[in-house]
Amino acid sequence: MTDNRLNQLDLDFVRSCFPTFEEPLAAKTAFFENAGGSYVAGAVLDRLMHFYRVNKVQPYGASEILSSAGNQMDAGRQGMADLLGIDTADLTLGASTTQNFNTLAFACEGFVTNHSEVIVTDQDHEANIGAWERLCERTGATLKVWTINQDTAELELETLSSLLTSNTAIVCMTHSSNIIGTINPVEKVIELCRANGTRVAIDGVSFAPHSWPDIPTLKPDAYCFSTYKTYATHMGVMFTSEDFRSLLTPQCHYFNRGYANKLLDGAGPDHASIAALAGLGEYFNASHQHHFGNNDLSLYEQAQQISALMHAHETDLCKRLLDGIADLPLHIVGRNHTEGREANIALTSSKLSSAEMSKYLATKDIAAGNGDFYALRLLEKAGIKDTDDGVLRVSFAHYNSTDDVDRVVDALKACH
Ligand SMILES: Cc1ncc(COP(=O)(O)O)c(C=O)c1O
Repeated sequence: MTDNRLNQLDLDFVRSCFPTFEEPLAAKTAFFENAGGSYVAGAVLDRLMHFYRVNKVQPYGASEILSSAGNQMDAGRQGMADLLGIDTADLTLGASTTQNFNTLAFACEGFVTNHSEVIVTDQDHEANIGAWERLCERTGATLKVWTINQDTAELELETLSSLLTSNTAIVCMTHSSNIIGTINPVEKVIELCRANGTRVAIDGVSFAPHSWPDIPTLKPDAYCFSTYKTYATHMGVMFTSEDFRSLLTPQCHYFNRGYANKLLDGAGPDHASIAALAGLGEYFNASHQHHFGNNDLSLYEQAQQISALMHAHETDLCKRLLDGIADLPLHIVGRNHTEGREANIALTSSKLSSAEMSKYLATKDIAAGNGDFYALRLLEKAGIKDTDDGVLRVSFAHYNSTDDVDRVVDALKACH
């Protein structure tokens, strides 16, 4: 039974779970560079340190020091699978999402031919574009681009519908852009594509830190995100469905082909980082216990519930920022309200360059960077003239506070 004790996020509790806030530098900084990488939960750090201190060995084997290293890695892999509500066989742990998409694109040579079409968007981070472009160059398949509406910077379903043909092998798209933050209708895309016999690969890197992905409900063919943005070590998490994998060319050593979760493991990532992932499950579990009390829910159900609280908190903060800067000569790339978006705001100013805004914020100990954030094609399409200067990006995490937001609002007012 769930005993719903707190209906909003307890920020003091949350911050106490992140040792970084005890450091003087972080204590004085209002941190809004979260889309570039979040702070790390203490439970993850503890597991990482333990592995490096006690078990930094070739894992698995007869002796205790080897077997306990392997056990910790198994716990990390299982913990991530449990958080996502998926089978470990469907979980590839790679070094990063860029690497996972590259590996996946190579694996797609198993079914993408010179008659196929591959659709990418110009709203995506380059990680989910370039790999597919190179796949098309290698196979002779046709690359089609699902372009944004230039006025809104958003992707529209009608545009996708007009691109889909009986030859469309795969659609590769972001769940939520790392620039504009709008949540894309991936459920509808999957429905549309499934009816067309088309596969869907989703980049959840910018979505997962704000809303924990619900893969069992979504049922994508492939879903990727990076755990250094979800309070853990830098790993690339990639879900692939069993049915999709049956089409793919294995990218592992030939003798590992019998292991489903190794088929797309082209690199063998850092052992300690895998082991440390178990700490993320511990963080979600501790947070759920704190907010909802004792219960017998699965880790996946707990993650979904606690993520809803995190999301609501971030949305309140995001609204506070948008309201606070509404009268300033700033242009928000994407929606200027919180409906249907994640708390990731990209702005430009008619008075200052994005670099000047970022530097001014830094003088007030506010961390928010500027540039293209590897979504160069989006910036070009959205009409940002100087893409090096790019946008000022204010990206939130659930540990941000109203005080953090007020500091950004005050600083933006002061420099305009
Ligand atoms: C939306 C998005 N997709 C993909 C990536 C690439 O992730 P990784 O750094 O793990 O390769 C990033 C990284 O910033 C991102 O923001």
